[in-house]
Amino acid sequence: MSASTNKKPISAKKIMGMKGQEPIVCLAAYTTPIARMANVHCDLILVGDSVGMVLHGLPSTQGVSVDMMVMHGQAVRRGADLALVVVDLPFGSYEASPEQAFETASYIMAQTDCSAIKLEGGAHMAPTIQFLVDRGIPVMAHVGLTPQSVKGIGGYAVQGRGEDRQRVLDDATAVQDAGAFAVVLEMVTEELAIEATKALHIPTIGIGASNQCDGQVLVVDDMLGMFQDFKPKFVKRFAQLGEAAETAIATYADEVRTRQFPGDDHIYADKK
Ligand code: KIV
Repeated sequence: MSASTNKKPISAKKIMGMKGQEPIVCLAAYTTPIARMANVHCDLILVGDSVGMVLHGLPSTQGVSVDMMVMHGQAVRRGADLALVVVDLPFGSYEASPEQAFETASYIMAQTDCSAIKLEGGAHMAPTIQFLVDRGIPVMAHVGLTPQSVKGIGGYAVQGRGEDRQRVLDDATAVQDAGAFAVVLEMVTEELAIEATKALHIPTIGIGASNQCDGQVLVVDDMLGMFQDFKPKFVKRFAQLGEAAETAIATYADEVRTRQFPGDDHIYADKK
């Protein structure tokens, strides 16, 4: 059942119960107007730290701050009263200790009224996930390609190929056993995604993984085709809004320069 037909807000527990059912629809989004649309059609809205690259022009997600996540978390939450809102913990705000993670997660939840947080990392983050879950914070995990550690893992490459497969599977199992309610599998081989989806009892949410995952997530600006020069293999453009926006801006500039705009329809006459 989608968020639009189920008029009750979706909880992390409900997402967990959707394992093996109808695919879970997730979108990474950052603003109120998009959240209003996603709220009707999606089960889960992720306020991803990809916001730093997508909306703020940062070169990676490593420069994203807690304040940025709070601001965009609040914006999304204003537009979403049905879909589950999950906010990413940004780089440097949780890795040092479970206590640091709790401090950041509880602050973000209090400030944004989101329902859950997401953090990146596999087996090494399991004690932190357990610490948060034990204290009432629903956690979505993220394994495979973890963009916050892209400098450490040597770039945006497919994970889990060959001998690396068992490591990613072990990561997914560790975050599940620590209490995560779902796990994002990013840029892993299809075989691995299918194996993990069969092996785990929590939902797998794929991005560059497999349509056999329990759900899918894409970044909204990517799937709307906002960027004409950025298209990883796993992104399908469901629209070409970047091209349409650029054409509209060029036309506006031209009409201003030629004094076609504003025309009669867009100006106010004095009362006769
Ligand atoms: O930051 C993000 O948008 C994400 C998704 C792409 C999974 O982590």
